Amino acid sequence: MQANIVLLPGDGIGPEVVAAAVRVLKAIETKFGHTFTFTEELIGGCSIDKHGVALTDSALKACQAADAVLLGAVGGPKWDDPTAKERPEKGLLALRKGLGVFANLRPVKAYPNLTDASPLRPEKLTGVDMVVVRELTGGVYFGEPKGRDTVNGVTRAVDTMAYTDEEIRRIVDMAFKLAGGRKKKVTSVDKANVLESSRLWRQVTAEVAKNYPDIKMENMLVDTAAMRLVSNPAEFDVVVTENMFGDILTDEAAVLSGSMGLLPSASLGSGGPGLYEPIHGSAPDIAGKGIANPIGTILSSAFMLRYSLKLEKEAAAVEAAVEKTIASGTLTADLGGKANTKEVTESILSNL
Ligand code: IPM
Ligand code: MG
Repeated sequence: MQANIVLLPGDGIGPEVVAAAVRVLKAIETKFGHTFTFTEELIGGCSIDKHGVALTDSALKACQAADAVLLGAVGGPKWDDPTAKERPEKGLLALRKGLGVFANLRPVKAYPNLTDASPLRPEKLTGVDMVVVRELTGGVYFGEPKGRDTVNGVTRAVDTMAYTDEEIRRIVDMAFKLAGGRKKKVTSVDKANVLESSRLWRQVTAEVAKNYPDIKMENMLVDTAAMRLVSNPAEFDVVVTENMFGDILTDEAAVLSGSMGLLPSASLGSGGPGLYEPIHGSAPDIAGKGIANPIGTILSSAFMLRYSLKLEKEAAAVEAAVEKTIASGTLTADLGGKANTKEVTESILSNL
C-alpha cells in the first residue's frame, strides 16, 4: 500500500523518539512491500519560535490531507510563561480539534519483567491490562466561556466544562465497541455527585449500554477511580471518561506499566486521519541526550498501522518485536536499564 504520513516531532525528546519510530516504519515498509511517504511539519515551541504560532494553518492542512499523523511531544521551560499569549500546548489542542479526533485510546498494561520499575507491589500488577478511552475534543479543555477579566480590581479566571449528548454518545459507544473485543467490561468515570455535565454523561451512558447487553457496565466517581487504579488496577478493562479526567487518570495509570515512556496512544475521529502520539511529554531534562525511551512512540506507530492504514499484520509484528525487546531486558534508564534510544530501537528492529 501507499500512505502519506505527516511527522510532527515537536519539542524536547519529540524529535528523538519520532526518528526512532520512523526507522521502525521504514523497516516495515521494506519487509512488507509498502510505500510510506513522510513529510515533516512544526508544532509547539519550535513552531512558535519560527512562525509565532504553535501550529500554522498550512501545517494543520498538511495533517488533514495525510493518511495519518505521528507526533512526538510539545512544550518546555522556554515557553512556560503563564502570561504568554501563545503556548506550545495550544498547537496540540488545535490539531486535535482540527482533525476531529474525539477519541483518545490509551492502553495500559503491566509487563511481567518490569514490575520492579513500578512503585506498586508485583502482586497488584498481575493481570493489569486496560484501555482508557479519553474524550479528546470537548469538556473543560474547549468549553466556552473561557478567559479572564478584571472588575473593580478583582481578577477572575473561568473555564467551562461542557458536553452535548452527541459528544458523550459517540465516545461511550466507541468504548462499548472496544470492550466487545476484550474482557467485555466498561467502567464509565464521572463526577455525577457534583457536576451537571457528569449527570448528562451518566444518563447517556446508560442509554448506550442498553445496545450492548453482553457488556458489563459500571459507573465510578473519578475520585474513587483514582484510588481503585492503584488499589485494584486489575479490575479495569475499558475505562471511558471525559477529557480532563482522562488526562489525569492516564498519567496515574502509567505508573502501573513502570514508565510513562512505554505508553502509546491513538486519537481517532469518524473518518479522517488518525493522530498517534506517546502519552509522555517533551522531557526537557533529558532532551538531546539520546537516552529517551522510544517505545511509547514506536507502539504509537503500530497503532497507526492498525487503525489508519488497516495493516493489522504489520502492527502485530511491531508489537511482538517490542515485547521481545522488553523481555530481553534491553531497557532505557526510566525502566532501570542502561540502554540508550538507539540500542532499544535497534533491538526492536532486530526482533522484527
Ligand atoms: C496529554 C498532555 C496534553 C493534554 C497537554 C500537553 C496539553 O498532557 O496528551 O495527556 O493535557 O492533553
Ligand atoms: Mg496528560
